[in-house]
Amino acid sequence: MAEKRVVIGIDGAPDCENAIRWGAAEAAARGVGLHLVHAFVWAEFKVPLGASDVAPGLWAYADGIVADALELARKFEPGLPVTASRADGFPAAVLLAESRCAELIVLGSRVSGRLVGLLVSSTGMELATHAHCPVVVVRPGVDLAVGSRVVIGYDGSPAADAAIDFGLGYARRHGLVARIVTVLAEDEDDDHDLTAALRAHQDARAAEFIEVTGHPAELLLEWSADAQLLVVGSRGRGGFSGLLLGSVSQTVLHQAPCPVAVIPRSAVEVPDAH
Ligand SMILES: Nc1ncnc2c1ncn2[C@@H]1O[C@H](COP(=O)(O)OP(=O)(O)O)[C@@H](O)[C@H]1O
Ligand SMILES: [Mg+2]
Repeated sequence: MAEKRVVIGIDGAPDCENAIRWGAAEAAARGVGLHLVHAFVWAEFKVPLGASDVAPGLWAYADGIVADALELARKFEPGLPVTASRADGFPAAVLLAESRCAELIVLGSRVSGRLVGLLVSSTGMELATHAHCPVVVVRPGVDLAVGSRVVIGYDGSPAADAAIDFGLGYARRHGLVARIVTVLAEDEDDDHDLTAALRAHQDARAAEFIEVTGHPAELLLEWSADAQLLVVGSRGRGGFSGLLLGSVSQTVLHQAPCPVAVIPRSAVEVPDAH
């Protein structure tokens, strides 16, 4: 299998500048390479691009996006092995394929241009639901160095267990305090201590454990006010099985000002682990 790397989906500056900054720093911290990929959607539209007048311009534009992203990544992390390419296809399909052999996929949360913005946010949702590795969505225009904590939403589900591992690893690599937040429902009996097993976790010794009662997404966001990263699973313990992305993960993806890492179920259940 190819060596694992951090992959960033790029669709043009300035909106993915922060995603590049975040992804490059994380690749360096993990000691792995970085790959930048731009999905060239025009290849999917069944128009004869080859012979048309617009094709060279579209390709040149796409190649410009790739070149600019490469330059930014090199500026942010000189010395980091970086590759970049244009891949024919829709962003979700291109990035889902990449996620099979990536350690992590990083996306910007929107791009300029309303239509493309929609496309990208649906890409983010699609990836957070189906990717084979963790997905981090990074908002443009926010200061990534603000905040001193990694906040992990923990509801006892398998995806939340994976969120714990991811969040504690990130905290260790970046010298941040991990805060594990469990929100109990008003009527939930709290004699089963959800976090009991976690407290024995080697990396969790220095972590803060917060247990509060109320609305999960709201309280998770409140306790993330000083977060550099918020980590959740794509699904939790409850909800409607018809939902592919749980309501808590959807809400924090849309509303958290800091980068959000989602650990998809498809990244937790490794299909060839036997
Ligand atoms: N009550 C909660 N307290 C803390 N974190 C939570 C809580 N509920 C959900 N989360 C976080 O959000 C993720 C997604 O859960 P959720 O959106 O509730 O999905 P579902 O609808 O399947 O329960 C979980 O893996 C967990 O990280
Ligand atoms: Mg839930």
